[in-house]
Amino acid sequence: MNVYDSARMAEILAPLGYAPGDSPEDADMVILNTCHIREKASDKVYSELGRLRKIKAARAEEGQQTVIAVAGCVAQAEGEEMLRRAPYVDIVLGPQTYHRLPEMVARAHRASMAGDHAGVLLDTDFPIESKFDHLPPKRTESGVSAFLSIQEGCDKFCTFCVVPYTRGAEFSRPVAQIVAEAESLVAGGVRELTLLGQNVNAYHGLDAAGDEIGLGALARQLAGIDGLARIRYTTSHPRDVDDGLIAAHGEVEALMPYLHLPVQSGSDRILEAMNRGHDAESYLRTIDRLRAARPDLAFSCDFIVGFPGETDADFEATLDLIRTVEYAQAYSFKYSSRPGTPAAGMARQVPEDVKDERLARLQALLGEQMTAFNEASRGTSCEVLFERAGRHEGQLVGRSPYNQAVHVTAPGYAVGDMATVFIETCKTHSLGGVLPEDGRPVPDRHAEERLSA
Ligand code: 5AD
Ligand code: SF4
Repeated sequence: MNVYDSARMAEILAPLGYAPGDSPEDADMVILNTCHIREKASDKVYSELGRLRKIKAARAEEGQQTVIAVAGCVAQAEGEEMLRRAPYVDIVLGPQTYHRLPEMVARAHRASMAGDHAGVLLDTDFPIESKFDHLPPKRTESGVSAFLSIQEGCDKFCTFCVVPYTRGAEFSRPVAQIVAEAESLVAGGVRELTLLGQNVNAYHGLDAAGDEIGLGALARQLAGIDGLARIRYTTSHPRDVDDGLIAAHGEVEALMPYLHLPVQSGSDRILEAMNRGHDAESYLRTIDRLRAARPDLAFSCDFIVGFPGETDADFEATLDLIRTVEYAQAYSFKYSSRPGTPAAGMARQVPEDVKDERLARLQALLGEQMTAFNEASRGTSCEVLFERAGRHEGQLVGRSPYNQAVHVTAPGYAVGDMATVFIETCKTHSLGGVLPEDGRPVPDRHAEERLSA
C-alpha cells in the first residue's frame, strides 16, 4: 500500500511542478514514506534521515533548498518524537492526510523563503472525510499491473499489530469511486489490478443503490470492465472470507487462483492471545471451502514466530498446519514488540535465539513447499501475462495465474499480451517457458481437477 500511496503523492504534487527524481542529491524535496509494522522497518527511517540531513546541509551550502517530509505509519506513530529527534525534518504527515501535502509544501517553502525553518509541520489527523474524496482522479499508469486501494485501516486489533493505531479505523471506498479508478487504469493499458487493503476482504463499500457490497460482488463488477484480464487482492483475514467471496473464486474467471491468507500461528492458544478471532480448525475449514470452489487455488501466508508465551508445542502446531495446507508462497517474521500494542506488555517474551531457531526451521519447511509448488509447474502449461522485457533478445517476463514469474522467449509478443506458455524449467524464484508455436504439447494444468469438480 505504501507503493500505491507514494504514487498518489507524486501525482498530487505534479501540478506544483514536482516530478520524481533519481537521487536525493538532486531533489528539491524528499519524501520518506515509512512503515511501522516491525521494529526493523521503523529503524530504517532514522538511518535514512541521518543521510538526508547531510545532503540537505551540503545542498544548503550551494544555496539550494531541500524540503524533507516523512509520511506513512512511522510518522503517524512517532510524529512528535520525530520532531525532537530530527529537527531538520520539515513536514511530518500520516497516511490519512497526504491529500494535504500541496498545502504543507507551500507553507514549508514560504517559511524557508523567509529564512525560517518551517518549525515543522505536523499533520497526523484521522480526518472524518476520506483523503480519497480530495485526491485528483488517478492518472493512467504505464505498467500492465497496477495497485488500487479499496479499503484501509483495521478494527481487528490483533495484539501484536500497529495497523489499527497507525492506519486508523476500517474504511471502504465507495464502489463507484473504485470502478472509475479501475476504468481509468485499464484505459491507460493496465490489464491486471491488485486490490489493496490492510483487511481487504472486510470490504463493505456502498454501491450506486446505497447498499453495502462485499469483496466478491466488487470483484464481479470489476471483472466486467472490458480489457481487464486479472484481479488479485491482498491482504485478507480468515474471518472475513464469506460465501460471496468463495463463490466469486469459483465463478469469476478474472479472479486469479492465488490467495494470500495469513494465519500467523497454528496454535489455538497463541491465536487466542493474538486476538485473531479464529482458530486453526476454522482456518483449515476456510481453506477447504475455497479449494472446493476453485480446486487449483494456491495459498500464500504470513507467519509470526516467537509471539510472547509461544512454546515448542505451539510452534510445532504451526509446522503441522503448514504441512496440512501446503503453501505456494509465504512470508515469515520474528515477533517484533511494538510500542503501545497489548502484546508488548505480555509476560514470557521469547528470547531472540529461540526466535532465530524457530524462524530458520519454519522457513526451511516453507522453502521446501515453495520449491515443490514451482517444480509441479514443470511440464504443464498456463496463461502468462507479460509485464516487462527480459534480459535476452526477444525475451519477456510475465506472471502465471499463481503469481509465479515466468521467463519466455516470445518474439512477436509485447508487454501486456497474454499467451499460453508451456513451462520447461524451474528456478528458485522463476519459471522458464516456451510458446506452443514451438511445437510443444499444451496440457491443461488443472484439467483433471476441473473435470472432477
Ligand atoms: N511482529 C512481527 N510481525 C508482524 N506482523 C505484523 N505485526 C508484527 C509484529 N509486531 C506481520 C504479520 C502481518 C504482516 C503484514 O506483518 O504477519 O500479517
Ligand atoms: Fe493487523 Fe491484520 Fe490483525 Fe488488522 S487483521 S490488526 S492489520 S494483523
